[in-house]
Formats: sequence, structure tokens, C-alpha cells
Amino acid sequence: MSTEKKATLTFTDGTAAVEFPIYGGTIGPDVLDIRKLYGASGKFTFDPGFMSTAACESRITYIDGDKGELLYRGYPIEQVAVHCDFLDTCYLLLNGELPTEEQSQDFDGRVLRHTMVQEQMSRFFLGFRRDSHPMALLVACVGALAAFYHDSLDIQNPEHRFVSAIRLLAKMPTLVSMAYKYSIGQPFIYPKNSLSYTANFMRMMFGTPCEEYAVNDVLTRALDRILILHADHEQNASTSTVRLAGSSGANPFACIAAGIATLWGPAHGGANEACLVMLDDIQRQGGIEKIGEYVGKFKDKNSGVKLMGFGHRVYKNYDPRAKLMRETCHEVLAELGLENDPLFALAMKLEQIALEDDYFVKRKLYPNVDFYSGIVQKALGFPTSMFTCIFALARTVGWIAQWNEMIGEPDQKIGRPRQLYTGPVRRDIPQQFRRD
Ligand code: CMC
Repeated sequence: MSTEKKATLTFTDGTAAVEFPIYGGTIGPDVLDIRKLYGASGKFTFDPGFMSTAACESRITYIDGDKGELLYRGYPIEQVAVHCDFLDTCYLLLNGELPTEEQSQDFDGRVLRHTMVQEQMSRFFLGFRRDSHPMALLVACVGALAAFYHDSLDIQNPEHRFVSAIRLLAKMPTLVSMAYKYSIGQPFIYPKNSLSYTANFMRMMFGTPCEEYAVNDVLTRALDRILILHADHEQNASTSTVRLAGSSGANPFACIAAGIATLWGPAHGGANEACLVMLDDIQRQGGIEKIGEYVGKFKDKNSGVKLMGFGHRVYKNYDPRAKLMRETCHEVLAELGLENDPLFALAMKLEQIALEDDYFVKRKLYPNVDFYSGIVQKALGFPTSMFTCIFALARTVGWIAQWNEMIGEPDQKIGRPRQLYTGPVRRDIPQQFRRD
């Protein structure tokens, strides 16, 4: 990177001024390269929550939160969601370009031929309680894949990285559906590779050995859209975790397991589950009649509850994924004849009230993708505890693409943030605590 632009930082404590280069990306804010700050001034920057810090350079996904824009490798999400399927999207995120017909057949074929997991893996599940949260199983099982694929763990070898990427993409639907089947005491359903990626996943989730599973195109397309919309989202908490874990040289399965663990939190991937739990709660307490009371609580800082599925750290005008998901939501409810189902009617009423309420309007709090994706998944038949697993399944490709990009950087370094220490200064252990 070279640049003519510079910024100078001056200090009031006598430290000499430091000059920093400023770099521009293809779009988005410029960045100040502060790497030499500590060496030159003996000072760190302080930015908990990464409010002003670009932690890496990336060519994969771009978000403009003010415009409500999301680009995958430059293509607007509105076009990707309509013109591509999930595996095209995976190819795009991993390789930088959309696949030709031939590339698509080759890529899809490779993914669809790696869908089975080692039979030993099925016994791994037996160690868990049946009522375990499926995300706990997923964190463990994805990490455990490293124990099965010693043949592809050399992260400096691009061929190994490619094979691991294919394995992760291919096996995630199988593992997610196994986590579900285990929790309800049904037999695991083996993948059927003649089906599309998404139809195969739905069959493994909802099929049984006793009956033929009938693929419904509207519902499969809806789930495929959920996967596309969640495939990558720039440097969010779980992706940053994957990068940080990967920066130490950890294997891809361990890194993705770390990403899954981070995604689990309710402020991140757990939001769609939390949203449905909230809707269920309102429903139990009296439904639509009680919305006003709940909205009052969501606005009251002392209540400790937020309107789940609303607000976003980056999108401050609207979430472009939410617009697409809203469309899908109405399509699915119509297909299943659920428009008048009390829970879904409640969600639609809550959306309307919040969008008109001064508190939410002033703070630019709009429904995010998880508000609608939770509703769609519920309508498709996924239990709420599985929602974050579906998110993890979709985001796996983004995590791999970002991990791969990082490992490929020539000057890649282990991530090692610094701190502002405010604990006790050096002191001696008092006599009464000494054991000698
Ligand atoms: N309900 C009520 N008030 C809210 C909400 C909400 N959902 N979200 C933010 N606020 C208020 C917040 O209290 C603050 O008010 P004030 O200015 O009076 O102090 C103001 O809005 C700004 O909020 P913030 O906490 O500074 O915003 P943030 O950017 O740090 O947080 C967020 C973003 C997504 C964590 C937050 O909006 C939230 O907790 N939303 C609910 C959980 C959710 O839906 N998360 C899914 C995010 S999308 C999936 C993904 O991409 O991972």
C-alpha cells in the first residue's frame, strides 16, 4: 500500500508528533495506519468494541451502514439473493467471481459428494444429553472434525485449505441435522446427494426413514435465501473471532468452532432465537393486547430487555437483508396458509408499532434480518433452538473465505490486542497470605 495522504497526531504531554499514512480502499472510509504509533510514542490506541478500528484489509464483503448497502465481492445482496443460489454464493465468496456453468457443476459436485460424516462421528453425539442446546453439539462436533481429517491440516498448503473448505461446507448441514435429530430422538438421516444443497438439508432435518420426503420448492427457496443472506457480513464478532483464532495457526475446524461459539451470543447470531422466545413470551402473556406494555418495557433502560430483532451496530437506516427476508417471510406464510396464525400476526403487529414509535424511529432502530428469519424458520418447522445453527451453517462459508484470505496474506501476524491496564500497581503479598 502506498499513499500521499498523511495524518499527524500531536500530544499535549511533550511526546513528539507522529505522522501516519492514510490509505483508501476501493470504497468506504479511509484508514490511518497506526502500526508504528507505539514504537514512536510509547502509546496504544483505545477502542473497545472496535468502534473506529479496521482490524484487517479484505476484498470479500462491503457494508455501507448508512446507505443500507451490502456487497458480496462487489455484487449487491439484492442481486445475489435473486439471481444466485447458495452454492453460487459460496463459490463467489471463496473465489472472488461467480462460477461459469462448468465451474458451478464442478464445485457443486465436490460439495455434494462430501456430505457424509465419518460414521464414528455419530457415536460422538451419544455423549451428549438429549436436551443439550444444539449449538453446544455443533461447537463440539465441528471442532472434532479436526480429529478426522489429519490429511488436510497443513494451513500453508492451498490445496489443504481448499479441501477443508469443501469438507466444512458439505458437512455442516449433515452435522446440524444430526444435532436436531439427536435432540428429538429420531434416527440420523443420511444425505442424498442427488438433491440440491438446501433440499438435502431440509430432507435430513425433516425426513424420516419411514416415509419419502417431498421437497417443496417455495420452502426450499426460502431457506436457500436465508443461507445467502447470512453467508458473510464483513468483520462481525464471529468472523473476527475466526480470524483471531486462525492468526495463531490453528486449524480451520478449530477456527470455525470458535466462530460458532461467538455466534451463539444473543447480541449476534442468537438474536433470531431470542426474538422468537420474546414473541412466545408476549403471546403467553396475552398476545396483541399486551404489545403496548411490552414496547414500554423495551424502551425502558431499567427493564433490561430490548426489542430483539431490532437495531444493528452497522445498519443505521435499514438492513438490506431484512427487506429481502421480509418478502420471503410473506411468501412462506402464504404458502403455508399461516398469515392468520396468532404468533405471526403478533410479529407483524409488533413490527408495525415499533416502526411508528418515536423511540425506535429517533434511534434509527429498524427490524434486522433476524426479526424475519426467525419467523420464517419457525414457519418452516425449525424449532427456535435450531435457529442459530442455521445461521452458523450459512456463515461457515464467510468464515472460511475470511480465514483463507487472512492465511494467504504475505505479512500475516498473530492477532494480539493490547490494553489499558487499570488494576493494582505492583505490590507484595501480605504476610498473612504467605504459606512459607
Ligand atoms: N431495543 C430497544 N432499544 C434498543 C435496541 C433494541 N433492540 N437496540 C438499541 N437500542 C437503544 C439503546 O439502548 C441505545 O439507546 P440510548 O441511545 O438511549 O442509550 C440506542 O438504541 C443505541 O443502541 P446501541 O446499544 O448503542 O447500539 P449498538 O450498535 O451498540 O447495538 C445491537 C446494536 C444489535 C447489539 C442492539 O441494537 C441490540 O441489542 N439489538 C437486539 C439484538 C439483535 O437483534 N441483534 C441482532 C443483530 S443483527 C445480526 C447480526 O448481524 O449479527
